[in-house]
Amino acid sequence: MIRLKTNNDGRNKKGDFMKVLVIGSGGREHALVKSLSESKSIKKVFVCPGNVGMQAQAKIISMNIKDHVQVVQFCLVNKIDFVVIGPEDPLVDGLADSLRAEKIRVFGPSKQAAQLEGSKIFAKKFMLKANVPTADAEVVNSVASTMMAAETHQAPYILKADGLAAGKGVSICKNLDELKSAAQQLFEKKIFGAAGARALLEKNLPGYELSILVLTNGSNFQALPLAQDHKRLKDNDVGPNTGGMGTVAPLKIANSLEQKIIRKIIEPSVAQMKKDKMLFRGVLFVGVMVVDGEPYALEYNTRFGDPETQVLLPLIKNDLGKVFYLLSNGFVEDLQFNNKSAFCIVNAAPGYPEQVQKNVPIQIPANTDEAYILHAGTAKSPDGQLISAGGRVLNIVAIDESFEKAKQKAYALNAQIQFEGRQFRTDLGSYQFQRNET
Ligand code: AMP
Ligand code: GLY
Repeated sequence: MIRLKTNNDGRNKKGDFMKVLVIGSGGREHALVKSLSESKSIKKVFVCPGNVGMQAQAKIISMNIKDHVQVVQFCLVNKIDFVVIGPEDPLVDGLADSLRAEKIRVFGPSKQAAQLEGSKIFAKKFMLKANVPTADAEVVNSVASTMMAAETHQAPYILKADGLAAGKGVSICKNLDELKSAAQQLFEKKIFGAAGARALLEKNLPGYELSILVLTNGSNFQALPLAQDHKRLKDNDVGPNTGGMGTVAPLKIANSLEQKIIRKIIEPSVAQMKKDKMLFRGVLFVGVMVVDGEPYALEYNTRFGDPETQVLLPLIKNDLGKVFYLLSNGFVEDLQFNNKSAFCIVNAAPGYPEQVQKNVPIQIPANTDEAYILHAGTAKSPDGQLISAGGRVLNIVAIDESFEKAKQKAYALNAQIQFEGRQFRTDLGSYQFQRNET
């Protein structure tokens, strides 16, 4: 079997340095664009739809990514060597399949494999089949079936819309009244449309959460360092759930626990993909809850996390252009990591997550190699002023030999930003008991 499909210096099969198209527009995609633009295998990065912060590193392409014919055409005309799909929606929509049908290489799973993220019910059945530890759950499809299923549960009740709901599909309900109203929102008000036609009522797992991401071809995998996201809006984990207000990596946990997560969750998941003949070339990202030292899978994502990516890519020593290209060909390269720590602070817009305020002027300081700003929801006003244009607006990333120094650098850069009403957490990475768990 010929395994390596690039030349040793990361060029494509014809010996050229490569052109890559990144799909997406957030902070995760800015992190991907930055790393790919720094890769010695890559000659040019295109990004669609991108954001204004990426202009120096990539050519921004305006296309409707739901129009697969247009995306395929762009790749063929511009001789794109491979496409990296950032967000879940185009994956669940089958963009990877449309590209592969035209022999365009893709870093991203097939539509079938993306169901692991696109349907919580599909994922739960898959976990059970694979013998992956996870919370017990029932499938419900009405207020009545939810309330009946709840009779065998205890508070808090966890109701999860089956389909994609922009990260808002999980309700954690303190009592039966709250559960009833969450079920009414889903099944009667249909706030998520078809994505909420069915749901899981899941048993509560009380513990602490971490994220594990692995690069996989559906047969082999390479785990990235663990990361910790901070999902609540405010310090001390209060306020509403968000897409993620900041991340730290590597998250240090006992080696035995890390091995257990690999053995009990990752290995059986990848083995099941193989059994089910899923075409998976990309990232499997598992949300894990650790309860009394035992890991349980909360959910699968079939893409890089945002903002996990911002702190994971800088820890990889390999040439990322080459790693991603090889995986788009079905080969998982062995990864090596530096011994650094990475820290990411999210600046969210005033009013996030409920009532995002756009068009707020922003002033940002200059980047350095080890402390820099990635753009998520930014735009330029007609007179060229940087303004907020989304919920999570900026990511302040710092890398250093020590966790404490990375943290100091990130907060020092963060202090120089002018952005009225911005929201950020001041306690990121301060869960010492979790970071140092033995
Ligand atoms: P998910 O999108 O499934 O990761 O759920 C969103 C958030 O809800 C998770 O990050 C957890 O904080 C919480 N959550 C989900 N499922 C459970 C569960 N079974 N027990 C406790 N918390 C949960
Ligand atoms: N940070 C969580 C996610 O990307 O889903």
